[in-house]
Amino acid sequence: MHRIIYISTAADGLTDAGVADIVATAERDNPINQLTGFLLYNQRNFLQMLEGPRDRIGSLMRRIISDERHHGIVMMVDEEIAARSCADWQMRWIRLSLDMGRRSEELQTSLPVLSPGATQIVRNFALLN
Ligand SMILES: Cc1cc2nc3c(=O)[nH]c(=O)nc-3n(C[C@H](O)[C@H](O)[C@H](O)COP(=O)(O)O)c2cc1C
Repeated sequence: MHRIIYISTAADGLTDAGVADIVATAERDNPINQLTGFLLYNQRNFLQMLEGPRDRIGSLMRRIISDERHHGIVMMVDEEIAARSCADWQMRWIRLSLDMGRRSEELQTSLPVLSPGATQIVRNFALLN
């Protein structure tokens, strides 16, 4: 079982409805590909976590990299894992509160248990943006 986390920059003009389209595709196709994970979006950047068989992540990433709805993908985490951290999430859109003061507390309850390094990256993304 494998996990990746990447960040990227959304294309100009991408709306919440556009993000909802991405999530709908992921919810439809990820079960077929045995993939689970979550997506964060701060109106400018994405952070996505994907977990599942390594080859399935690889083939999805080839499509995601050429997707024109974002660019500038930077891989932050690429690690073997013993088990999934969010087996029930085909692709959960974790919505960030606009109130920065509440985000830390919200993340405490909304994030699944990841490796310490992965948790730090997700928290930094959510709290710095
Ligand atoms: C930020 C972002 C995250 C995405 N996440 C997924 C995902 O988890 N699963 C998925 O099937 N497609 C995801 N997509 C969509 C894929 O890039 C691609 O459009 C989709 O797999 C359909 O590919 P196709 O048009 O080659 O059939 C994502 C796209 C973006 C921009």
